[in-house]
Amino acid sequence: MLENAFNTPTEKNFFSPGRIMSGAGTRNKIPELVRGNGPIIVVADTLFAADPLIDDLHPVRRITVSGEPDEATLLSAAVEAPKDAAWIVAIGGGSTIDTAKAICAYLRHGKLRIRDESSVVGAPHLIAVPTTAGSGSETSRFFIMADKDSGQKISIRSWSCVPELAVLDPYFLANAPASTLALGAFDTFVHLWETFVCRHERSPFNDALCLNGMPQVLKGVHRLQNNSLTLEDILALQQSASLGGMAISNVRTGMVHTLGESLAAQVDLAHPASLFVFFSHVLRSYASEIQDRVTQLDIVTQSVMPEFGPVTIETLCGFWSDIFDHVGVTDDIQNTIAATSISGADLLDTIARDTVLAKENPVELKDKDIQWITETSLKRFTANLQSDLSVATSL
Ligand SMILES: [Fe+2]
Repeated sequence: MLENAFNTPTEKNFFSPGRIMSGAGTRNKIPELVRGNGPIIVVADTLFAADPLIDDLHPVRRITVSGEPDEATLLSAAVEAPKDAAWIVAIGGGSTIDTAKAICAYLRHGKLRIRDESSVVGAPHLIAVPTTAGSGSETSRFFIMADKDSGQKISIRSWSCVPELAVLDPYFLANAPASTLALGAFDTFVHLWETFVCRHERSPFNDALCLNGMPQVLKGVHRLQNNSLTLEDILALQQSASLGGMAISNVRTGMVHTLGESLAAQVDLAHPASLFVFFSHVLRSYASEIQDRVTQLDIVTQSVMPEFGPVTIETLCGFWSDIFDHVGVTDDIQNTIAATSISGADLLDTIARDTVLAKENPVELKDKDIQWITETSLKRFTANLQSDLSVATSL
């Protein structure tokens, strides 16, 4: 019954079944945790496929992941996985951890497309070791897989997907490019932001995560921009990403994610880049209704990071625009979008179908406002938008 319970204005719930171990060197504790306790499958991304940690785990099967997995590939990996696996250890970014979650779902439930199963006690035990800080997959109840035929992404939701242990070790991000860190940090920030301003589902439990995580993200990104990022800052970005995974598992994301995911179905953009396209104008569209939320964030940010100055919608938008420019991602987004024909009507249709968004957006969604957000956001990046937005207003 509680598996698909959502917050309302009068009922606030919170759940997060996973443990977290975080700190420099924590990865080295994993072999002693799993040794002698049954067969181990390691799922790793190409970057860390030869990491010494994997040899220390003595896996019976190694699965290497490159790129976002599609359902058919996941199914064949899951069918071929040793049925007696006691542990699945995922070492990689969101796609790698999602692959491990899918294999785990299949071994536990006999299928990939699970829905709202409760958290599971028993083998195989899932350990997630994220090598990026952004998606929050290591603490979330979701995994994403692509439908090869339609190109659509299928989001699977179940508390049984939450890894039993997330190990956050800054070792894995010490040499990450600035653009990777910035994109991941932005995804984290939007997870915390959108759940923080969610109209009815917001909760005091989730606010605590958001008010801790958002200032840490701003601080880490500021230091990234000034070339003064330390391992402690990286760890704080990892911890914030894990807070974001818990947040989106308890409160739904908002219009930035809905529009970004719809755009990413049409254009080959990384998830955080697709969010960035809409971020500023979505926030401006509801700024007047969330002043109390911005004030709370301002107070905490001033104590953690006084150099940020006053937190307002405009200073937040400017901050993220500067960092995207700084790491060269704005140009990449412009070039990718300019080379693609985008259907504004498809974007508007997605919003129209999203009935939860209509209920949870901080302000009532009006057709003309949605059209303004979509048009203005895309115009910033391209003049190549098809002129079908004007005919798609009858949402
Ligand atoms: Fe996201």
